[in-house]
Amino acid sequence: MELNNKVILLTGATGGIGCAVARALVKKGAYLRLVGRNTAALNQLAGQLTGNHQIIVADIGTSEGRHDILSRCVDGGGIDLLINLAGTTTFQCFEHQSEESIEQILSTNLIAPMLLTKQLIPLLNNRPESAVVNIGSTYGSIGHPGYVAYCASKSGLKGFTEALRRELSDTAIQVFYLAPRATETSLNSPAANTLNRALGNRVDSPEQVADTLIKLVMTNRQCQFMGWPEKLFVKINALFPRLVDRALVKKMPLIKKILNNHETTKINT
Ligand SMILES: NC(=O)c1ccc[n+]([C@@H]2O[C@H](COP(=O)([O-])OP(=O)(O)OC[C@H]3O[C@@H](n4cnc5c(N)ncnc54)[C@H](OP(=O)(O)O)[C@@H]3O)[C@@H](O)[C@H]2O)c1
Repeated sequence: MELNNKVILLTGATGGIGCAVARALVKKGAYLRLVGRNTAALNQLAGQLTGNHQIIVADIGTSEGRHDILSRCVDGGGIDLLINLAGTTTFQCFEHQSEESIEQILSTNLIAPMLLTKQLIPLLNNRPESAVVNIGSTYGSIGHPGYVAYCASKSGLKGFTEALRRELSDTAIQVFYLAPRATETSLNSPAANTLNRALGNRVDSPEQVADTLIKLVMTNRQCQFMGWPEKLFVKINALFPRLVDRALVKKMPLIKKILNNHETTKINT
């Protein structure tokens, strides 16, 4: 799918990956509707981009926010692409996670993208070619200790993407899924960064994720997992989950130590 002159709604635009994606899309000649909750950050981003782009201040986790997004898209003449990029996480023991935190993760990463997509399908259907891009995670395919609610949300997003792609296969709307591995943004807490270093996990730059997203859409690849050996682990986990169980069980003392240190630090500050 060509991106030149396409109108693209990008949620999570002000985040680490979002800013890189916005810049990469503008280089391809796209017009953006940038969504986030922080007006100053949205204005700052729009000011750095060449061309005329719209900002939409909205919380995708509320029906009011999603309704505002729909109204602005209708008034602005529609969209060709929806990129569901906004997301949130925490790295902590599920047992100690608050109900609010679990609900917020499920709402932002799964329910809100589903409801936003549902609302925008009629607009996407008005275009000769259009697409939905959902940003998942390696953790949508590999359940990982310390990320229980996040893994549940991204696994749900992956299932949503696959089912929707099949349901819309007789329309002009394509449905893509991109699963980045760890990426250098403020989404990852200091404890999460400590764990990545301790486990030797490689970390991509937001620009690498943005480039991969552009290639995915432009080459009409439906689904892409980023990083090596993460891609291999995703396949091994699907075929032989007990192998991955055993590998992660061995890492549990280290994971627990980092989680406990982090929780103690939080209590003492
Ligand atoms: N960083 C990684 O290691 C990594 C790895 C794999 C996948 N991913 C996925 O990549 C996506 C982007 O992550 P990132 O690293 O760029 O995170 P980030 O820097 O923390 O940015 C998150 C973005 O989501 C927006 N957002 C969060 N809740 C929102 C809400 N209720 N309504 C509207 N906007 C909301 C934030 O905007 P405001 O706060 O300004 O509203 C911000 O723009 C996420 O879906 C994440 O799960 C990230």
